[in-house]
Amino acid sequence: MRVDHGDQACLVSRTTFGNAEQCSGFWQGSSCGGQHRGRRDRAGSRSRTDEELGVNSRSAPSGTSLAERARRVIPGGVNSGQRSIPGLTDLVITRASGSRFWDADGREYTDYHAAFGPPLLGHNDPDVNAAVAAVGQRLDLCGVAVTDGEVELAETLAGLIPSIDKVLLTSTGSEATFHALRVSRAATGRRLVVKFQGCYHGWHDSVSLNVISAPDRVGVPDPISTGILPEVLDATLVLRFNDVAAVRAAFAEHGADIAAVIVEPVPHNVGCLLPDQEFLAALRDECTRAGSVLIFDEVITGFRHDLGGWQRISGITPDLTTLGKAIANGYPIGALGGRADLMDLFSTHPGAPAFFAGTYNGHPAVVAAALATLTKLRDEPVHEHVYRLGDRVRAGLTEVFADLGVDAVVTGYGSVFVSYFMSGPVPRTYDDLLRNDAGMFIGYRRRLPEHGIFELPLNLKRSHISYAHTDADVDRLLEATRAAVADTLAAGGVTELAGTATMGGAQAGTATMGGALPNAAGGGS
Ligand SMILES: Cc1ncc(COP(=O)(O)O)c(C=O)c1O
Repeated sequence: MRVDHGDQACLVSRTTFGNAEQCSGFWQGSSCGGQHRGRRDRAGSRSRTDEELGVNSRSAPSGTSLAERARRVIPGGVNSGQRSIPGLTDLVITRASGSRFWDADGREYTDYHAAFGPPLLGHNDPDVNAAVAAVGQRLDLCGVAVTDGEVELAETLAGLIPSIDKVLLTSTGSEATFHALRVSRAATGRRLVVKFQGCYHGWHDSVSLNVISAPDRVGVPDPISTGILPEVLDATLVLRFNDVAAVRAAFAEHGADIAAVIVEPVPHNVGCLLPDQEFLAALRDECTRAGSVLIFDEVITGFRHDLGGWQRISGITPDLTTLGKAIANGYPIGALGGRADLMDLFSTHPGAPAFFAGTYNGHPAVVAAALATLTKLRDEPVHEHVYRLGDRVRAGLTEVFADLGVDAVVTGYGSVFVSYFMSGPVPRTYDDLLRNDAGMFIGYRRRLPEHGIFELPLNLKRSHISYAHTDADVDRLLEATRAAVADTLAAGGVTELAGTATMGGAQAGTATMGGALPNAAGGGS
């Protein structure tokens, strides 16, 4: 496991992008494949044939026909915002294993999107699946009292995450952040929440603003959805990430009314902004002084970067921590934990003031998945492997862009990587990311599937490496990127960016008939 990476995982390429003038600006149109410790890519060892699985057989429906059926009965044809991607609207996925997924037409993709981050062990991990199957032999949801697995998982989380004395399970990360804010307001009796431009904390109203904002919406409220009461948005202060002075000023002015500060310690919803240590320390300091609750939203950083989360890497301990994604390798579970005095305010104590409930909370299947995932993360060199491949990817991409004469900043941390098309220095705030050339960012990702590689072609989205990825996968990624970027340059970049560049731009207030804006993206990442 790596806990001391500092910024050595961050590499920067500053080269010249010959075609810059031709490329669309950021906002244009913005309306073990064998060799790794016995890890195997199970594609070769599957016991059922493609035909049996309904993949690539003559009788199986094509992606286009399935996608058309989907659009008839599912709004937009997908079940979460940010899944219907321009240019990929006929993509229907029918199988996933290890580092790969396959579509209904039999095409294979090495997957670096990774469902926005959960499958750190790789898709369909056999040990996690076996644990889920095993618990199903003896238990399902009973909805009263507690199960043995929930006890074990809570003890495990309290042992791993520095801030956690007590912990509650949810089904999603959004529920965890929702309850973190609710209990903060319950504990302090205060109204205001502080969040940072570029951070995403789920779909609920208090935090549904200022994620991926157009330049003219930075510095003003930028809701990601209509239908939110203006007074809820008014109760959220949005500050610039890594800006200590802004934090000090907000506390000087509003400290007595700030219930909580919620932050992604590494804002990965805009790729990767590494935090200054002084910034996280200032958050801790101001919250302690003002009696506000400091919430680290570690839904992404939690287990992906370290079993103890970013709080163990940084040594800064929040009052509450929210978890999700990699905790169960893709099974739907989230968690909220922290100081006992705060957690004891939840109504799981009869009579306590902060109501907390959920029919599926602590479902034995997802609890078993989490326990199996955490066991594997602890017992096998998962972090060592993904960190090493991450370093290889970042170094390799830096070289590719330099060779091609493209201005790029390749950054990330551990298993996460992202290439911004801009000249240096390394971005520290969301404002820096406004220099990214969205046409290139999205353009070459649109071409990667032609080379069997999948990275999400939406602006500023990060990519992920899993334990199932191999050195051979990295070689292929680098070759494919070289070819896709060269083709994009030859084509003069991409000019059609509608629906791909922002996650904001909706108007405050309740939606009226016909009031929904076409560019109101919403949805998590
Ligand atoms: C940092 C962060 N917090 C919270 C959430 C919400 O989690 P979920 O989508 O499981 O509700 C996300 C989802 O992308 C996230 O990235």
